[in-house]
Amino acid sequence: MKIMQSDLENQISIIIPTYNESINIVKILESISQSIPKNIFAEAIVVDDNSPDGTGKIVEDYLKNMKQAANYTIKIIHRKAKNGLASAILNGVQKAKCNTIVVMDSDFSHPPQIIPKLIETLNKFHCDIAIASRYVNGGTINGWSIKRKLLSKIATKIAKKSLGVDSKDPMSGFFAFKKNLLTGLNFDAIGYKILLEILVKTKGVKVEEIPYTFEDRKFGSSKLDLFTITDFCKSVLKLYRYGKSIENKENSSSVKFISKAGRFYTVGASGFGVNYLFSLLFAGGITEMWYLHANIIGIFASITSNFILNKYWTFGDRDFTTKKTLIQYGKFSLFSAAGALVQLGVVFSLVDGNNWSYPVSLGVGVLTAAFGNFIFNKKWTFKEKLWN
Ligand code: GDD
Ligand code: MN
Repeated sequence: MKIMQSDLENQISIIIPTYNESINIVKILESISQSIPKNIFAEAIVVDDNSPDGTGKIVEDYLKNMKQAANYTIKIIHRKAKNGLASAILNGVQKAKCNTIVVMDSDFSHPPQIIPKLIETLNKFHCDIAIASRYVNGGTINGWSIKRKLLSKIATKIAKKSLGVDSKDPMSGFFAFKKNLLTGLNFDAIGYKILLEILVKTKGVKVEEIPYTFEDRKFGSSKLDLFTITDFCKSVLKLYRYGKSIENKENSSSVKFISKAGRFYTVGASGFGVNYLFSLLFAGGITEMWYLHANIIGIFASITSNFILNKYWTFGDRDFTTKKTLIQYGKFSLFSAAGALVQLGVVFSLVDGNNWSYPVSLGVGVLTAAFGNFIFNKKWTFKEKLWN
């Protein structure tokens, strides 16, 4: 399921999924209306799954008779059948006109008075997701059995540990976020836990949590059943695989190692150009210098340019504090000199000891020395793990 972008800022769309909520729905719509500050425009979107108890019809009738407020509108989406909470919420998001989205239950478990606090949190901390949380300081649950509390705790632990999400209550059904956050993302929308999927698929965005008290419903019954639990397991497994595939794409060790070695070799080749140019320039191009002195300048120029390019480009090190840079430069120069000796040794032993031709031996010598240099500089100059 894909989400399109919408542009109205500073106005909120509140998504309220319902299945058999005939006793609660009108009351919750009115309670929400009273909780919206006058300076905020809110659109409530009820997403009903053809509830057998007539919830959809009740909302339609209510819409016909209610007095329209200036800053509060209500609309309803009728879906054909009970297709799950997560997908109901996403369908609501797709139809939302505003960029700030609030998601909440219709059974008064999520107190509407928290809505302004969620919006305030989004704005004040410039965050992308604000979660009303049962598990931060000050948050709690009223009315759940020990068994359900335990189940919730365990599910939360599993999700946090296996998916690495950075929230104390990633299974909350009460949260706010910016709609454009979801633009272009693809959702499985299995089962109940859409927030968990959002957190996994937008990893790295700024998340804030505020405490609230979850009140178990007084009317109607929970739709959570055995299917919800198996759906939860399916969904966590899918998200786990998703996380792994992203990780593999991002930092496959071998790809990283090879691409860095490639950069190192490229820099080395450019160093050859710098060396050649400077050696010629100083031996007649700009000043008359003894050619060996000019060559020394060429060598130092190429070591310096190699160092800077490798530091910045190959190893992505942006810390140019004087002391650190000088130490690195010293090590780099030392390894370069050692590399030259290695190269001489390899060429000598291949030509003299093994009767290889000079051009081939030279090629092998240069590549060996450069590879050695790469390894040593990676590990000791720029302090990276060899393979990570
Ligand atoms: N449209 C639609 N389709 N709505 C649904 C469906 C569905 O298949 N299933 C449930 N809902 C609606 C309910 O009518 C209610 O408004 C809301 O979604 C939550 O359903 P409940 O059945 O009341 O859920 P709960 O109280 O057991 O679970 C609550 O706690 C969880 C945290 O443990 C919810 O807040 C969850 O969102 C939350 O993750
Ligand atoms: Mn409930």
